Amino acid sequence: MKTFDAQGARIPVLGMGTWTLNGPEAVDLITHGLKLGYRHIDTAAKYGNEAEVGAAIARSGVPRGDVFLTTKVWPTDLAPADFARSVASSLETLGTDYVDLLLIHWPNPAVPLEASIEALNLAHKRGQARHIGVSNFTLQMFAEARRLSPVALAAHEVERHPFLDQSKMAKACAEAGAALIAYTPLARAQDLDTDPVLGEIARAHGVSAVQVVLAWHFGLKGNIPVPRTSNPQRLTDNLKALDLVLTSEERAAIDALRSANRRVVNTVFSPDWDQP
Ligand SMILES: NC(=O)c1ccc[n+]([C@@H]2O[C@H](COP(=O)([O-])OP(=O)(O)OC[C@H]3O[C@@H](n4cnc5c(N)ncnc54)[C@H](OP(=O)(O)O)[C@@H]3O)[C@@H](O)[C@H]2O)c1
Repeated sequence: MKTFDAQGARIPVLGMGTWTLNGPEAVDLITHGLKLGYRHIDTAAKYGNEAEVGAAIARSGVPRGDVFLTTKVWPTDLAPADFARSVASSLETLGTDYVDLLLIHWPNPAVPLEASIEALNLAHKRGQARHIGVSNFTLQMFAEARRLSPVALAAHEVERHPFLDQSKMAKACAEAGAALIAYTPLARAQDLDTDPVLGEIARAHGVSAVQVVLAWHFGLKGNIPVPRTSNPQRLTDNLKALDLVLTSEERAAIDALRSANRRVVNTVFSPDWDQP
């Protein structure tokens, strides 16, 4: 699969989201995805499925070195000792010595950023994380994290789909040489089929609205979507979107949907989000 180079990290341009995928079905599904050609898996300590992800990688027969594996440290574990424990536990559960990308899952104002960025860098220094980054930071927090981190941040994972304007964050990531990993890239796939703009483009190409949205993602430089599906056929459908090329008019029509400014994900750790 094509990769994007961010601070030396070669990140496959389509990832497998894994939130809510648990148990034997998750092992089967992720194994299937790897056999289909997926080479980038997005998990987190909080998802409770690192054992399933590790089992799927082992079962797939794909060499560990060919898989770009991301995990994340939950915000209540950002103090240095907790952070180190969380990373060690993730690696043990995943059954691997290292992850390719380690992220701070959400900011936590109760822990000084300097301390969690230092802990993140320590994981890198120990070889537990090939690359490091953050998730759900504001522009100001991202700039501060970059300033504090001796190792360049390779990625910022944020919510991104056609209905949310992330152009300022995309610019900040590009300036940092970091990838923007787009989570909830399908806006949970609700209402996509009934959206008139996406529907018309989908009909013109004989594809689904989800595939149109994924093709739009692939056309954004440095933007890497990690869609999630529990359906093996849809893993194939989503992979096929890599071959779909939209016209500049179609891309512009999808870009215009950002004025909806609809955010899907919020937690108690959500910062005061930047306005577009
Ligand atoms: N860093 C963070 O804080 C954070 C936050 C949220 C998510 N994430 C990551 O991002 C990943 C994706 O985000 P998400 O799970 O929130 O939402 P999403 O990928 O935008 O949407 C998932 C939904 O889309 C449906 N879907 C997928 N492919 C489809 C297709 N080809 N046709 C029709 N429906 C399709 C799935 O249904 P079926 O299962 O029925 O196919 C599922 O209900 C997560 O799994 C996680 O890895 C990270």
